[in-house]
Amino acid sequence: MPHDEPASDATRCARSPEAPRSITEPLAPPIQLASVYQVAGLDDADALFSGRAEGFFYARDGHPNAAQLAAKVAGLEGAEAGWVCASGMGAIAASVLTLAEQGARVILSEGLYGKTTTLVARELARFGVGHDLFDPSDPDSLRDVLAEPPGACLVVVETLSNPLLRVCDLEGVASVAAEAGVPLLVDHTFAPLLCKPIKLGATLVVHSLTKLIGGHGDVTLGAVVGPRELISRIRPVASTFGQTGNPFDCWMAIRGAVTLPLRVERTSQTALELARRLEAHPKVERTMYPGLVSHPDHALARRLFPKGFGAMVSFDVGSRELADRLIRGLRDIPFAPSLGDARTTVSHPCSTSHRGQDPEVLERLGVTPGLVRLSVGLEDVEDLWNDFAQALEFA
Ligand SMILES: Cc1ncc(COP(=O)(O)O)c(C=O)c1O
Repeated sequence: MPHDEPASDATRCARSPEAPRSITEPLAPPIQLASVYQVAGLDDADALFSGRAEGFFYARDGHPNAAQLAAKVAGLEGAEAGWVCASGMGAIAASVLTLAEQGARVILSEGLYGKTTTLVARELARFGVGHDLFDPSDPDSLRDVLAEPPGACLVVVETLSNPLLRVCDLEGVASVAAEAGVPLLVDHTFAPLLCKPIKLGATLVVHSLTKLIGGHGDVTLGAVVGPRELISRIRPVASTFGQTGNPFDCWMAIRGAVTLPLRVERTSQTALELARRLEAHPKVERTMYPGLVSHPDHALARRLFPKGFGAMVSFDVGSRELADRLIRGLRDIPFAPSLGDARTTVSHPCSTSHRGQDPEVLERLGVTPGLVRLSVGLEDVEDLWNDFAQALEFA
């Protein structure tokens, strides 16, 4: 209904300006920071809540930037639908909380990102959810674990494990999980675009968008994608547990994703070259990169990742002391406990991502105190190598 301009400055200041009229639309997505949406009347509210009408209501339940980002990630993964959460852990937690059942087990692949293991083995254990471990490069080990009681409600794997870069036999694991009728969640954070887990049989795919998809070290977000029916169950769980991602970060991640294919291609090339040089260096005891012939899963990696092996390389210099000296000796490569930035960074899993995990398990898996994890960025390979070469000399 048309109404007069308010006379009072207080009213003028309190109200939002009217959106300018335009017959055009912005080509880049606008950032929509509103925490709540105005609804015309009660019938419209009913229509929105019952799903008869599409739209937004309250940002924790969804907002345009998250919807755009979720659709982009779902499209990249060949999934029907997706949902964006405030971090990678948010996306994993929302998925696990939707599917976990008291008295049932979540089956985890060995060597997962430490917080994922903690979520299930420590936090969900408090609510009567059990767990078991299996070797992701050996689908028969999953079959054995699934054969034991109690029943399993979810299998969780990483395409490339953090930090050892073991490759999951996604097809094999997916077929064993499907035989048992158990959904498979694949954390694809280390391997966006290298392969498409849903095509290989995964039910849900999760990304920490904080890493390679955001790509610039300036957002904290996660996404889960999969069948529409399952995502529509995850959505209210994510909202109830307060895990929805914020509009500005979603907008940044959409922007970051623009260059993802170029970054994946370039960083895969640089990472392979650095891995070869590190492997040949006398001060490096062990180098793990799926593109190296010496990697235990190299044959599987060649089959799964025809275009490149990703941006992550791990190498062992023998001890915590030497790892510390190497990290301190690097001139231009910062020690930063994340990955996927356009700038190359190094991390030390025992002190950061895997801190607090059982030292015996870490030792058995090969997450040793001398292990350094490298996230390769877009710099020139020779500049990166010069820095590593001088730091290894120093160490
Ligand atoms: C493989 C993997 N998954 C999930 C996460 C969690 O992501 P976020 O830090 O965005 O919660 C990480 C974080 O390092 C990770 O490395």
